[in-house]
Amino acid sequence: MSRADRFLRALRGEPVDTTPIWIMRQAGRYLPEYRATRGKAGDFLSLCKTPELACEVTVQPIERLGVDAAILFSDILIPLEKMGIPLTFEEGEGPRLVPVRDRAGITALRVPEPEADLPYVLEAIRLLRRALDGKVPLIGFGGAPFTLLTYVVEGQTGKQFAETKKLLFTAPDAAHELLSKITETTIAYLSAQIRAGAQVVQLFDSWVGQLAPEDFREFAAPYVKKTIDALKPLGAPIIYFANDGAMLLKDAATLGADALGIDWRVPLDEARARTGPNVTLQGNLDPCVLFSSPQVIERRAADVLRRAGRTRHVFNLGHGILPPTPPEHAEALVEIVHRLGRTQES
Ligand code: CP3
Repeated sequence: MSRADRFLRALRGEPVDTTPIWIMRQAGRYLPEYRATRGKAGDFLSLCKTPELACEVTVQPIERLGVDAAILFSDILIPLEKMGIPLTFEEGEGPRLVPVRDRAGITALRVPEPEADLPYVLEAIRLLRRALDGKVPLIGFGGAPFTLLTYVVEGQTGKQFAETKKLLFTAPDAAHELLSKITETTIAYLSAQIRAGAQVVQLFDSWVGQLAPEDFREFAAPYVKKTIDALKPLGAPIIYFANDGAMLLKDAATLGADALGIDWRVPLDEARARTGPNVTLQGNLDPCVLFSSPQVIERRAADVLRRAGRTRHVFNLGHGILPPTPPEHAEALVEIVHRLGRTQES
């Protein structure tokens, strides 16, 4: 058993030699080599759309950190552009989209064809499978329908999510039409990623924690389930990350995902009590713990491992790694998890 298969084995619930780990946003601004490649590309979207450079930054943390999986370098907002929504990333300000908030605008959106409309993503995946050469599995990803809806409707990262909730609560039929279109897009997009070589896919539901449980059941869960049901026959394990979703875990566990991403707000043993035994849990160290010394990181990581137990666990942060993180601390975390994951008791 080796680095090449411990992540896939943990997703399937099989025994592992040590706990696998990867880090959300592991290719990013905290790494000087990422900043150098990003400089070559010019801007962030050009980096995403240049397969050779996207491949280069995807591989960087595999070498440096020793993580057990690679995640395609791209962004969840990339397919929205091809639905007909202009997208830019302003330096230091995050994404800006031309918002769509009414029925006519929603009806005018199209469902892209990934091979024709997003060829650079699929080409990056093909290049990556060759570059990784079986060393670690490759994760593809997309946004979950509700989270993508927030970007379409808010036109940026939401704050109060007032425009989103206005649509959901005053025009639910229009909201469902938009969610259906986004779901179709996501199914086509992730199917194409798997066909191109992605071995696992993760659905990022970054903003679903904004929803009360009954609204989650109406506006988020059915579309996640539809996506998972459509992807299942392709055979790649599916991870659903419902950020800030402690209240939603019991429902999330019924959607058919092989693994659930868990943020840091709920201890993994409590998460396990809510999900039952038949799903892998991925998480959940607070990303800000990586600002501390390696001694503190070790104590906190040991606690995560103890609460997770020996099987059906993939170590990760509870959300993406932050730009001010010292890269040596991320390296230390991987070493710690591999060492303690091997020796911990059941
Ligand atoms: O994990 C990885 O290493 C793969 C790459 C990846 C990126 N975005 C690259 C990125 C992944 C998996 C994403 C997903 C993503 N994008 C999410 C879901 C995950 C989450 O964090 O909740 C969301 C909500 C987005 C939308 C997005 N993209 C925002 C809000 C921002 C701006 C915030 C920021 O950090 O600047 C981005 C930009 C972005 N996506 C960067 C990277 C490396 C920073 C761009 C840069 O280099 O300047």
